[in-house]
Amino acid sequence: MWGGRFAEGPSAIMREINASIPFDKALWRQDIAASKAHVAMLGAQGIVSVEDAALISGGLDQVAAEYEASGVPENWDLEDIHMTTESRLAELIGPAAGRLHTARSRNDQVATDFRLWVRDACEQADAGLAALQRALVIRAGEHAGSIMPGFTHLQTAQPVTLGHHLMAYYEMVRRDRSRFADARARMNESPLGSAALAGTGFPIDRAMTAGALGFDRPTANSLDSVSDRDFALDYLMAASQCALHLSRLAEEFIIWASQPFGFVRLPDSLSTGSSIMPQKKNPDAAELVRGHAGRIIGSLTSLMITMKGLPLAYSKDMQDDKPPVFEAAGLLTLCIAAMTGMVEATTFRTDRMRAAAELGYATATDLADWLVRQANIPFREAHHITGAAVKLAESRGVALDQLPLEDLQAIDPRIDERVYGALSVEASVAARASHGGTAPDQVRLRVAEARVALGLE
Ligand code: ARG
Repeated sequence: MWGGRFAEGPSAIMREINASIPFDKALWRQDIAASKAHVAMLGAQGIVSVEDAALISGGLDQVAAEYEASGVPENWDLEDIHMTTESRLAELIGPAAGRLHTARSRNDQVATDFRLWVRDACEQADAGLAALQRALVIRAGEHAGSIMPGFTHLQTAQPVTLGHHLMAYYEMVRRDRSRFADARARMNESPLGSAALAGTGFPIDRAMTAGALGFDRPTANSLDSVSDRDFALDYLMAASQCALHLSRLAEEFIIWASQPFGFVRLPDSLSTGSSIMPQKKNPDAAELVRGHAGRIIGSLTSLMITMKGLPLAYSKDMQDDKPPVFEAAGLLTLCIAAMTGMVEATTFRTDRMRAAAELGYATATDLADWLVRQANIPFREAHHITGAAVKLAESRGVALDQLPLEDLQAIDPRIDERVYGALSVEASVAARASHGGTAPDQVRLRVAEARVALGLE
């Protein structure tokens, strides 16, 4: 393709280090689509004849059909997907193929193809995350009133509802979807027509190719266009944040499935056994989601380091932009699907959760709140009185509401029998009815709003 000025061909090492076809063949659909948009524009603008444009476009369809049927051939001499396609086109239609690359460079071509690919990846992530949200909302609705211990520092803190806990992840996923949507909107400008770096002298119509490829408009600066990989970084940042959320949810399931907790029975379909310990059922899918977050975040780091310090415009370093994005996208799709399946099919052992909520003096704050409300005691003092009650209950190995009234009154005479109404875990969660609180009625409101947002109603 560029042999004109060279006296000898590349060494074996040069061919190997240069070849991106082993991975950028994944861009073949985008490459064909962009070439078809480009040649239609060249024909419409009279830059190539209408006959040649039609011949080239038909030839590109034929190449696409071959790729679809038998894959993209990997010939290192042809370097990348762009030259591979153009060379096959020439074999199929002859010299007219040479007109396709008029007013274009591989620099704007790869920038365009890759943007189209990443745009699809944003849409794929969004669709997967919408399914995960549906699963979360459905299970949260089932368990709006199921009581479990809420933790801080992984120590029992206050009773919460399982529905509330699941809806916390709904919120994280809602933000993830907005990050992917935001990235998609920002990247949706067409670099095609920026040519090698400076634009072109041919009378091209960049708005036409932008429109044909579903971009909102052409990019404004050709130097920026061929060297900008922000769109890939935006995607990887959204993917990293999302993977981080999924790893946290995975970790919850791992902890909940452990025998001392016993809060869940994971679906057999997303667990594995042990080759030596017959009783084992391991949460491997969740552990791998937790692990894959590391690789996805690594992809972001990889591309950031590739891009740092690169002067304008294109440099070959940028060919390394694709593997981290492809890897992250593949892993993210898997992680989203695995967590969706886990949320859908896990059995929540609500009896175990409720029993755990009874332990650890989870309603101690309710006693303090009761003293504030019913006896008009300042919260700090109420906190102190409650601490004494917890200490006493602990020394006897009983729950707070198992302390006789006279013992509570010995700690503070302002306590009366109404306090017992506040010390059950049911009363505790029902009381937390502030907006966004854990009260079953609040959870049902949030679930109802989410169901509308997701189109489930
Ligand atoms: N395979 C190249 C890449 O992925 C295409 C662009 C090549 N441009 C160039 N000036 N050699 O970045």
